[in-house]
Amino acid sequence: MSETSITEEFPRPATGGTGGDAAATATRRADTEGVDGGVGLTALLVAAARAIETHRHDSLARDVHAEHFVRAAPACGGWPVRIGQVPEGDDNPLWGRFARYFGLRTRVLDDFVLGAVHDGARQVVLLGAGLDTRAFRLDLPPDCVVFEVDRAGVLAFKERVLTDRSAAPRAKRVPVPADLRADWVTALTSAGFDPTAPSVWLAEGLLFYLPSSVETSLIDTVDRLTTGGGALAFEAKLEKDLLAYRDSAIYAATREQIGIDLLDLFDLGPRPDSAGLLTARGWSTSMHTPFDFTGRHGRGPLPEPNDALEGNRWVFAHKPGP
Ligand SMILES: C[S@@+](CC[C@H](N)C(=O)[O-])C[C@H]1O[C@@H](n2cnc3c(N)ncnc32)[C@H](O)[C@@H]1O
Repeated sequence: MSETSITEEFPRPATGGTGGDAAATATRRADTEGVDGGVGLTALLVAAARAIETHRHDSLARDVHAEHFVRAAPACGGWPVRIGQVPEGDDNPLWGRFARYFGLRTRVLDDFVLGAVHDGARQVVLLGAGLDTRAFRLDLPPDCVVFEVDRAGVLAFKERVLTDRSAAPRAKRVPVPADLRADWVTALTSAGFDPTAPSVWLAEGLLFYLPSSVETSLIDTVDRLTTGGGALAFEAKLEKDLLAYRDSAIYAATREQIGIDLLDLFDLGPRPDSAGLLTARGWSTSMHTPFDFTGRHGRGPLPEPNDALEGNRWVFAHKPGP
């Protein structure tokens, strides 16, 4: 398949469109700063998945802003925002199974953040925040601050769409433009983050895009900036050879339907044991497969042969209180 199949309900634009070639060109601009290509475009992939999840009758998470990011971005011309716009529906590996994966991940990490806030955290730090709208969606106390760290171009696009929608956050929201491969701590603390106050951190769909040494330094930094009682959840990939999944249904569909070659964007080097690092520093950690939560919620992806999700793990870490 070379193009996403979509129904008349969401017609492809007259120019550009979603053809694999056009989108592949966007992906090849791997150093693009915004959401038009490279890793920034993956933020839109997740937004489209959340839009689809939102409109499901049995949605795991609702994000009313998600579809507006998709509609506002030229790079997403013709992407569906409802499963009904995909003729194969849930049989489409990208907009069916993979999108449901992102819906489940969103819900699980929503619950993690809310749990940490219930336990006293008033600072939420979203590393590689992308088009995450937790500051708008979650029932956060008004004295809570949500720091959204991502590259400047991604945050500028996000700001534009949210401003156009007159969207009002439920907590204080602070965009922090920074590249996580460079010094982002200065930007975060200058934006008001207080390392002596309890915090909860998410690295959702982020770490495998970063070189191993950057991941280790990021985890080390989170440990340093987190006071006792704080928490961190992140997504990891355990596979030793990601390229072995090149022809898996979800990677192939993502490449062929919307031109995002995830394996071109992932760092393919050996991954560090970040959960082990945190455990060695005294954090309590637990590691789950997404399928554990499919069972818990009664919906979500199930394992399949040649499964690119096989090695995905969600790690939940808590730093012991004082
Ligand atoms: C797959 S998206 C996930 C976005 C969001 N966490 C979510 O789940 O919706 C990956 C995000 O990581 C960001 N990212 C990747 N590398 C980055 C870097 N070096 N510095 C800052 N952000 C980065 C991208 O811009 C993108 O928004």
